[in-house]
Amino acid sequence: MPIPLEYTRRTLDEIRAGSPEHVEQLFADLRADFDAASSTVDSADAWKSFRDAWIGRKSGVLSAISDNWLKPAPPELKRVVGAALNQLRAHVEAVIEARRLEVEVSADQAAAVREHVDLSLPGVARSLGTRHLIRQTMDDFERIFLSLGYSVATGPEIETPYYNFEALNIPETHPARDTMDTFYLDLPPGALTQYLLRTHTSPVQVHTMESHPPPVRVIVPGKVYRRDNPDSTHSYMFHQVEGLAVDTDITFCEFKGTIEYFIREFFGPKVKTRFRPSYFPFTEPSAEVDASCIFCDGAGCRICKFSGWIEMFGSGMVDPAVYGFVNYDAKKLCGFAFGLGVDRFAMLKYGISDLQLLFQNDVRFLRQFP
Ligand code: PHE
Repeated sequence: MPIPLEYTRRTLDEIRAGSPEHVEQLFADLRADFDAASSTVDSADAWKSFRDAWIGRKSGVLSAISDNWLKPAPPELKRVVGAALNQLRAHVEAVIEARRLEVEVSADQAAAVREHVDLSLPGVARSLGTRHLIRQTMDDFERIFLSLGYSVATGPEIETPYYNFEALNIPETHPARDTMDTFYLDLPPGALTQYLLRTHTSPVQVHTMESHPPPVRVIVPGKVYRRDNPDSTHSYMFHQVEGLAVDTDITFCEFKGTIEYFIREFFGPKVKTRFRPSYFPFTEPSAEVDASCIFCDGAGCRICKFSGWIEMFGSGMVDPAVYGFVNYDAKKLCGFAFGLGVDRFAMLKYGISDLQLLFQNDVRFLRQFP
């Protein structure tokens, strides 16, 4: 308990009459009182009143002793009282500071218990996201073609029939329109323009040539849409990368060389390519590119339907009719174009048997492709 001020007043007379030994005894008693009181301090509030009672500037015990004992002490006792007071003050201040730390720590512990925080538990680990496999595959394509001097272009996913069909030499009556089951957007009343979701990335060929004079060398990664029922090889949304190179002196050889180089860079040196005649309204001649089956090395297996080859993408030399739509000089220019399915490339390269896995985003699947 704090020492009442009366105590310090009362004993002043005793000091006056006393001897140095008597003074020391008084201080020893005081210190014992202080120690006893300090051990009862068990909260932040109790600590504050304890501190004020002992070292408070106005009403603390030490100030009272200084005023009532030291100042009026007779000269022969002043030194003894002064030294004893200093010693007591050092002890009191050290103990009060120590008690403060103890009270703070135990307040923290009490809060931890109250809030049920187990400070020994490890923290919550946060896992880092990674690029999606489709994005990784597109990045691979971009890396290969950027190294060949191509640049990356993009275009809108909502298109007009003009860009998706007409300017690619697919007029309204052309049967090729039926092969691409197209999502048309509902026409607002009174609207004149029909909109659709692009069925391939080829409209970006037209946008690119409209806005850039030749020569052009671009690839176009992007999403495309077709009215397909989802199954292990079909989806109403999938990804393509379009390629277009137009210049004054591009030959079919260059076209073949570029495609072969690209396939080897992507799948590795063992894979062979072959070109099969095909038909697209916007290329002439057109070719379907096959790669030797990467699962059986061309020997024949279930995946390649025992043919040893897997159909990879459509391509060809740009049909001169297309140049007419973009004000390119068909007499001076030639070039090639190709369009490949990114999802299919990813499935073949990484041995994925179901296209839907690429779109379900199950982390157990995604984690396998960090
Ligand atoms: N756009 C065609 C498709 O989606 C592919 C293609 C692109 C063919 C460029 C030739 C040239 O099927």
